Amino acid sequence: MSLTIDELAMPDALDGPGGHAFAEYAALCNDVESHTLGTDLLVMGPQEMLSEYVSTPTRVRRHLVARDGAALIGRAMITTRPLTPEAGAHLMVDVLPIHRRRGVGTALLAAAEAAATDVGAPVLKVAVAHSVRDGGERVEPPTGFGDLPADDPGVRFLQAHGYALEQVSRISLLAADRLRAGRSPEAPDLEDDYGLLAWAGPTPDEWVDQLAALRTRMSTDAPSAGMVAVVDPWDGDRVREHDDRIASSGRTVLTTVARHASSGVLAGFTEIVVSAGDAVAVQEDTLVVSDHRGRRLGMRLKRANADQLVAAFPAVEAVVTWNAEENRPMLDVNEQLGFREVGREAGWQKHVHRDVAARNG
Ligand SMILES: CC(C)(COP(=O)(O)OP(=O)(O)OC[C@H]1O[C@@H](n2cnc3c(N)ncnc32)[C@H](O)[C@@H]1OP(=O)(O)O)[C@@H](O)C(=O)NCCC(=O)NCCS
Repeated sequence: MSLTIDELAMPDALDGPGGHAFAEYAALCNDVESHTLGTDLLVMGPQEMLSEYVSTPTRVRRHLVARDGAALIGRAMITTRPLTPEAGAHLMVDVLPIHRRRGVGTALLAAAEAAATDVGAPVLKVAVAHSVRDGGERVEPPTGFGDLPADDPGVRFLQAHGYALEQVSRISLLAADRLRAGRSPEAPDLEDDYGLLAWAGPTPDEWVDQLAALRTRMSTDAPSAGMVAVVDPWDGDRVREHDDRIASSGRTVLTTVARHASSGVLAGFTEIVVSAGDAVAVQEDTLVVSDHRGRRLGMRLKRANADQLVAAFPAVEAVVTWNAEENRPMLDVNEQLGFREVGREAGWQKHVHRDVAARNG
């Protein structure tokens, strides 16, 4: 094997210089994840992947490609957050199944770790899909919620490289037919002091600042188990940048918010992202601010947003969601809606030795 590892130059557009190499990179990411999960339900188109994999003012993403001769056989991604360096770096390594157990993953991980510690990351994190097979030896996070097969290649690899399993999340799917069958009656949902508002596409001006505040809360309110979690601050500009990037990749964000009538404050939100032509829509964040919990706002928000989805996107066949296994309140809502597990994702973490952080930081 003649292995080379190089940085991928990100293209401005898929049909411009570097676009073909990025499409090849996107296909490798999809192939590896589909192989792990045993389904191609989560495949992302290259256009939407490009819009997620570019750097933004709050998130720097670098990409490495491993080639055997001219053939692309693996990749790594390094994500750092310049405004919150204490959050550390997220790393991801994928190697095509037929090229595994020859040291390619180890070489990519070493290069990715060096890129992260070079910019002083104090902790290295991984969020990766794992297979769902039952039985056999299992590994559990310290929370005791959820487990993974010990012989999953990613599990073995991360353990061999000193990463600790901190959190297991469930990836689950709901057929849109069930949403259509259970559509809410037209009667307004206003038996108390909360009103629901829904929109498709960019956030209306009047809600931008409050949505930024809700997203900031989301960064620490969602359960993070033993993963290092720091406040990830959002402001109006970041909400606009996020909205514009999603819209320009051919995706639509469907948002429903709960407004507390007496105070005018937004008490919660939920959002689904739909890619033009895709059969599977993605459930993104859902948050009810702690003061407003216990009033079934989580379920009401999700039901209303699902109604919006099936009305506006009749071709969508299913919705996929990710939930931490210890997040019982959110799993309760999703199980009642009919979501069923299709895969697992886990959060892994390795603290960088102080000497390395001090030398490079
Ligand atoms: C995990 C992954 C990147 C490993 O790639 P790779 O090129 O096979 O990695 P290496 O050859 O460098 O393997 C290094 C070590 O990991 C462990 N390992 C990897 N796959 C293993 C398997 N199937 N069974 C047992 N151990 C395994 C072993 O300790 C191995 O060393 P060894 O071959 O000397 O026993 C690859 O399996 C993959 O892409 N999986 C899907 C994505 C993923 O889980 N990424 C990891 C998170 S970043």
